Amino acid sequence: MKPYPPQDLAALDALLADRHSAWWDGFYADRARPVPFFGSAPDECLHEWLADGLIAPHGTALDLGCGNGRNAVLLARSGFAEVTAVDYSQAAISWATQRASEAGVSLRLQQASVFDLALATGAYDLVYDSGLFHHLPPHRRDSYLQLVAAALKPGGHFGMVCFRPEGGSGLSDAEVYERRSLGGGLGYSEPALREIWEGSTLFRIRQLRQMKPQRPAESGLFGEGFLWAMLAQRQWEWHQ
Ligand SMILES: C[S@@+](CC[C@H](N)C(=O)[O-])C[C@H]1O[C@@H](n2cnc3c(N)ncnc32)[C@H](O)[C@@H]1O
Repeated sequence: MKPYPPQDLAALDALLADRHSAWWDGFYADRARPVPFFGSAPDECLHEWLADGLIAPHGTALDLGCGNGRNAVLLARSGFAEVTAVDYSQAAISWATQRASEAGVSLRLQQASVFDLALATGAYDLVYDSGLFHHLPPHRRDSYLQLVAAALKPGGHFGMVCFRPEGGSGLSDAEVYERRSLGGGLGYSEPALREIWEGSTLFRIRQLRQMKPQRPAESGLFGEGFLWAMLAQRQWEWHQ
């Protein structure tokens, strides 16, 4: 995909500004709402990849769109020496700060849009995203992929949870711009995800599967069947 020049990105961002940081602050204002990912249970896929050794818990991890910090806390508990967690919403960061303190772990928390971060190049062993990518507008997909690739060490892993087609709004890319809304988040087919993440040659997908539905009260884990779980690896050689 041809990268958008910065002025086009800014213009398209302005067109689709329905889910800005203040919107997310409102989303997190009432922590008692029955939102599935408002609990403390981490993603079942992240738990499994760590338990199976597909992700080695050492070095540095970055959680993009960390929300209340439920996955960042698991990463810190699993053995990553340094866990950075970023979210657009100050309300989410405040909640994650409290969660980290209650869990007795140290997180480097930052309120920012992922596109405004000054990330060190090749600094992370793992980048994790649970539920951010499907909230990105189509014109931001390539910049997001480049951002994740640049942040990762060669051979580092990218774990992601995003909507399957049945979980998303059903809008096509063209409809997103016609309606000036993502309609609550975009669903992705398996071929679409493979084309985006492997078509770039920056990543090789190691696992792409449906998330395993969970009852968090029983398993202590989060999982919904309308979500994908994808584990990809940053390739050693890449050309921009
Ligand atoms: C569906 S929620 C998932 C939260 C968390 N990862 C979880 O699974 O519990 C998506 C999160 O992405 C954050 N977000 C959306 N756009 C963002 C951006 N451009 N930069 C950083 N965070 C963003 C929102 O504030 C929200 O917390």
